[in-house]
Amino acid sequence: METYIFSWIELLLRSLHIITGIAWIGASFYFVWLDNHLQKPKTKDLQDKGVDGELWAVHGGGFYNPQKYMVAPKELPQELHWFYWESYSTWMSGFALFVVIYLMNAKTMMLDSRVSGISASQAVAIALGILVVGWFVYDSVCRFFQTRDRVVGLIVAGLVICSSYVTCHLFAPRAAFIVTGAMMATVMTANVFIWIIPGQRKVIKSMRAGEAVDPSHGQRAKQRSVHNTYFTLPVLFAMMSNHFHMIYSHSSEWILLVLMMAAGVLVRHYFVLRHKGQSHWGFLAAAGCLIVGVAVFVAPPASPFADPQSGTKNATIEDVEGIVAARCLTCHSEKPVMMPMAPKNLKFDTRVLIEQNAAIIYTLVVKQKTMPLGNVTQMTDAERLVIQSWFESKP
Ligand code: HEC
Repeated sequence: METYIFSWIELLLRSLHIITGIAWIGASFYFVWLDNHLQKPKTKDLQDKGVDGELWAVHGGGFYNPQKYMVAPKELPQELHWFYWESYSTWMSGFALFVVIYLMNAKTMMLDSRVSGISASQAVAIALGILVVGWFVYDSVCRFFQTRDRVVGLIVAGLVICSSYVTCHLFAPRAAFIVTGAMMATVMTANVFIWIIPGQRKVIKSMRAGEAVDPSHGQRAKQRSVHNTYFTLPVLFAMMSNHFHMIYSHSSEWILLVLMMAAGVLVRHYFVLRHKGQSHWGFLAAAGCLIVGVAVFVAPPASPFADPQSGTKNATIEDVEGIVAARCLTCHSEKPVMMPMAPKNLKFDTRVLIEQNAAIIYTLVVKQKTMPLGNVTQMTDAERLVIQSWFESKP
């Protein structure tokens, strides 16, 4: 029952996270697009009103004419729309999902004895620590180097590379990718929460009070928004790649993560320039080369194992039963010892149950190699070969 309830919690949280994420990224893409398409107003009344840029768009059966005032109109309207809940709710739903899937199951989801020997509570503490420390390092770098954008950009890239390396050398690969993505996503939301929105509030307050506006708020908000723009695709990749074993289960997974995130930055840069009317295809081509390079690099050998000859030919269900008993039943059984209940209610206690689940067992053990989870029960390649041989020779 408990697993069943958690499946629902996970499904609902995941849906919420995806929906709020779409709203946030959608709004963020829209405003970047808007900013880069604005044209100087041609009519005198707009110029007199203080409009700095405007554009015309058609959508949903009507025409829109957004106008941007730099820094602000002479008189502020009473009702102002803000954009921050998208960001906060994406972070909160994402964090809740991270707690439910990873932190509450740290032993099975975050540990991998092939990677490091940390304990479950250490994994939880380190993961949370990385989210907090990541923000403080990033924020200090931005404050210290201020408008020296290139230096800031390089150090921030270095921070992400370090995080990828460290997490992939501490946690099970899927957890490592999520922690690095979550660190970057935390930076993005903290930018909105700690600097961008409070800065805008201060600007509005001074304006309503008729005081001079401190331009540093606007400059800082701009810099942080630019960082958020370039973080978007890399963060999405870090979150989604978690479902693609060919990347996260590779021995150089931390470099692959960095390369794929770099491809995301290049794609985003191409679009940012394109919105300004400049088509620099080179950035898109470079991203394409990176992705193809990674795809070729991680391509599986013709046989999933180094020496296809070393396995038994036409293994039988008896062989498989022994292996499953040794490597899977600690979790997938009527009375599991490593878990409170059989995960996903999958139990392999009997021959019939193994036969019923043959295809999915084959996929997870032979094709994806994601089971046994974190290989905690230390299944060997030879045993995977036995399962392969049994499944492939089934009538
Ligand atoms: C340490 C505990 C553990 C061991 C050992 C283990 N599993 Fe799992 N298994 C899990 C967990 C946890 C899940 C759910 C994972 C998730 O939700 O992503 C799971 C899920 C599965 C699934 C369903 C995956 C899906 O996408 O629906 C299959 C099939 C599976 N395991 C097969 C096996 C086989 C076969 C073995 C033995 C070779 C094995 N497992 C060993 C913990 C374990």
